[in-house]
Amino acid sequence: METIEVRASRCYTIVIEEGLLARTGEHCAQVLHGKKVLLLTDETVNALYGDTVERSLCEAGFEVARLAVPVGEGSKSTAVYLQVVSFLAANGFTRSDAIVALGGGVVGDLGGFCAASYLRGIGFVQIPTTLLACVDSSVGGKTAVNLPEGKNLLGAFYQPWLVLCDPCALRTLPKAIYADGMAEVIKYGMIRDSELFALLESEKLRDAEIISRCVSIKRDVVQADERDHGCRQLLNYGHTVGHAVEKCSNFGISHGSAVAIGMAIVARAMVAMGTMAAKDCARLTALLKKHGLPTTCDFSAAALYEVALSDKKRANDMLGLIVCPTVGDGQINKIPVTALMEYIEKGTAPCK
Ligand code: NAD
Ligand code: GLY
Repeated sequence: METIEVRASRCYTIVIEEGLLARTGEHCAQVLHGKKVLLLTDETVNALYGDTVERSLCEAGFEVARLAVPVGEGSKSTAVYLQVVSFLAANGFTRSDAIVALGGGVVGDLGGFCAASYLRGIGFVQIPTTLLACVDSSVGGKTAVNLPEGKNLLGAFYQPWLVLCDPCALRTLPKAIYADGMAEVIKYGMIRDSELFALLESEKLRDAEIISRCVSIKRDVVQADERDHGCRQLLNYGHTVGHAVEKCSNFGISHGSAVAIGMAIVARAMVAMGTMAAKDCARLTALLKKHGLPTTCDFSAAALYEVALSDKKRANDMLGLIVCPTVGDGQINKIPVTALMEYIEKGTAPCK
């Protein structure tokens, strides 16, 4: 078992252990002091792991209500949010009670925002069951639902009381969803951990080891900049262009694939600009491909730029583009938003 401590606005631990789902109750009993727990999950994860987790919570003395929302991003909506908080109210949940979110980033983000806002904050435990949720969304306290106007527009920073990661749960993940998480894992290697990157190139790491290394990096970044004003932006490596790819595809290209393309586009552009060695760019694209992730897309530079611009122009005319001049060295490069076009053009140009 590995326990990683995070010191943010709420101090909490992340426990990584095979078979942990069956011991959910005993861990929750150490941090939750109310009687009632809402076990929030999605329909797929509910069928796989809902009974195991509910049984463990009941054995530890909790009174458990279970709610399984439909699978997918559609459940990060205000309608489902209202359904969950109304359920809490109708069932007499008080401020000492809690939500346990069992699932991927969708359930974690939704459950976190319900916990943050119901009665101005109740207990919250994350049990991530996708690789992406284990290494990224369950840690760091970003919670949100989407508005028709855009993703994650209604949310709060709300740290969990506890995060329980059971690597065995990842064994039932479809390959493509596991690969989405690998894009974020490779991102951590690029921005902070050249040793992790090299290990991913040379051998098959155990999931527990991958999660623990990535979560340690995220812990350090969140502790230094919980509210995302500084170094936390490093975690957006590949995301500026990636979000444009996602939007241009009308979300037909998954988030992980889009981030992979975003990282590769910026890396190829940097090689063309002489700010990254060609061999480092080649290592990145080879590792992404090894994990079944794409490194190019068919959208024109102009189309990608226009979508990226509509995202960024609202805040101000400068943009913190995350760049990695070498593997393991993420940096925030403050550029005028208009300079992004050069990166996209050079990064999407056919190889000579
Ligand atoms: P997801 O929650 O939709 O899960 C993906 C799919 O995997 C779903 O169909 C789900 O039912 C299935 N699934 C989950 N666990 C499974 C398991 N163990 N076995 C089989 N199937 C399983 O998607 P995701 O990729 O985990 O998360 C994406 C969401 O996370 C997005 O909404 C994104 O905005 C958010 N996110 C949040 C943060 C943050 O910091 N809060 C960071 C990154 C992403
Ligand atoms: N996933 C980016 C962040 O947590 O800041």
